[in-house]
Amino acid sequence: MPNVVKPSDSSALFDLTGQVAIVTGASSGFGVRFCEVLSNAGANVVMAARREDRLAALAARLPNSLPIRCDVTDDEQLRRLVDESIDRFGKVDILVNNAGTSDSPVKAEDEDPALFRAVVDVNLNACFVLSALVAKPMIERGEGGSIINIASIHSIVGSPSIHQAAYVASKAGLTGLTRDLAAQWARHRIRVNAIAPGYFETELTHDLFVGDTAEGGQRYIERGALMRRPGNEGELDGVLLLLASSASSYITGETIAVDGGWTAK
Ligand SMILES: NC(=O)c1ccc[n+]([C@@H]2O[C@H](COP(=O)([O-])OP(=O)(O)OC[C@H]3O[C@@H](n4cnc5c(N)ncnc54)[C@H](OP(=O)(O)O)[C@@H]3O)[C@@H](O)[C@H]2O)c1
Repeated sequence: MPNVVKPSDSSALFDLTGQVAIVTGASSGFGVRFCEVLSNAGANVVMAARREDRLAALAARLPNSLPIRCDVTDDEQLRRLVDESIDRFGKVDILVNNAGTSDSPVKAEDEDPALFRAVVDVNLNACFVLSALVAKPMIERGEGGSIINIASIHSIVGSPSIHQAAYVASKAGLTGLTRDLAAQWARHRIRVNAIAPGYFETELTHDLFVGDTAEGGQRYIERGALMRRPGNEGELDGVLLLLASSASSYITGETIAVDGGWTAK
């Protein structure tokens, strides 16, 4: 007979007070929002990206935050990111592998292999290298942790209308990486999960929302998403907090789509 456990207090369930989170791609779009959400929940946030002015502006708004310039394709800079995070806050509990780029729109038969490799380097290889760098001290501390990979609906379905072979391949690879790191590190209480967003307006998706291509972009999203609209700012907050906090203490290896039903069809 299992012990009777009282229902959780919902605010305590998602509380991140005293936790330390690294967020890559923190200079725009989802990354800015993720830093704000984690900070609001009580975490100390390390913000990484290449555009330092953007990071400094965000750091000025968030208490107990640390901006660090970092190109995620440079292993040495990733190593420094983890070392400086631990020097400042003593540990890392949460990693959000969010930095991403795209090769769209280019037909596969015309795509420069160097561009393909460059996209995979940011979207997949860097997530592997940084996850391993963060996992080592997590394993040594023995307190576990949560790694959250920002995947995409194109981890799950192809992209026939917007040609982006490298993006789709790298994001599909990221869900495989998510499962395998979850399998390897479950014994260390490190959970590894992914979020697969549909289309949201950010710098990455600018052309679908602004200018001459916006009308076609809206039609594309209305056709693709069962809910016939893009995601709104804030609609990833809940899933981020779920995966970062002890509310998801028995979830690992999962990719959760937040896509208005795009991949449910
Ligand atoms: N927006 C969407 O609809 C959507 C949907 C599904 C998945 N996603 C994923 O969500 C993540 C965030 O994208 P977003 O939409 O927020 O786009 P975004 O506004 O363009 O942000 C991309 C971020 O990645 C960083 N970045 C790119 N290359 C980097 C590098 N080599 N080193 C370090 N940082 C790098 C950029 O920072 P710097 O340029 O300052 O370095 C920027 O902060 C990406 O992984 C993307 O694939 C987005």
